[in-house]
Amino acid sequence: MTEQASRPFLYVVVCAAGVARDVGTLITAAQERGWEVGVIATPLALRFLDTAAVEAQTGRPIRSAWRLPGDPRPFPDPDAVVVAPATFNTLNKWAAGISDTLALGTLCEAYGLGVPIAVLPCVNEALAAHPAYRAGLERLSGMGVRFADPYAGNAGEGGTHPAFGWERVLELLPPRM
Ligand SMILES: Cc1cc2nc3c(=O)[nH]c(=O)nc-3n(C[C@H](O)[C@H](O)[C@H](O)COP(=O)(O)O)c2cc1C
Repeated sequence: MTEQASRPFLYVVVCAAGVARDVGTLITAAQERGWEVGVIATPLALRFLDTAAVEAQTGRPIRSAWRLPGDPRPFPDPDAVVVAPATFNTLNKWAAGISDTLALGTLCEAYGLGVPIAVLPCVNEALAAHPAYRAGLERLSGMGVRFADPYAGNAGEGGTHPAFGWERVLELLPPRM
């Protein structure tokens, strides 16, 4: 078995929030913890990413659309899934069981397959106040999905924004998968 094949496989689902441009930080942190990484981006998130840099870092194409029937599966099955940054839109649709992007289909299915899922929401306080969002988080938590404290992006004193803290989502996964 090659070193690459022996490592557990992590799907990193990326949604269309501004911080997505820095997802390389999460990929590096996951690789340092022994994960093989494949990135699944929502269609809109592709516009936020340096796709060439992400593909060079993971050694795999970013997935965003479903493959055609008969095409080979580009990624192995996941041992775990993280969603970072997770948008209001994708979280609400996932909780409702909507599967109109590959990212959502992957998340909906991962639950049924019993794959551990950890989420780092990037949702501001105004959006987070919506009752559908709060009900959705409750539903997903009840499904066993683990959530890091949401990043609301509020500027601190002096107008500086806090760090996104990408590694927090990895710490929610079961130990040494
Ligand atoms: C520059 C920019 C930054 C955005 N940041 C966020 C964000 O932090 N959180 C969020 O929920 N939506 C954010 N949005 C809105 C989402 O991109 C929008 O809701 C989109 O439909 C999400 O699609 P997705 O969930 O399929 O990735 C942002 C939009 C833009 C243009």
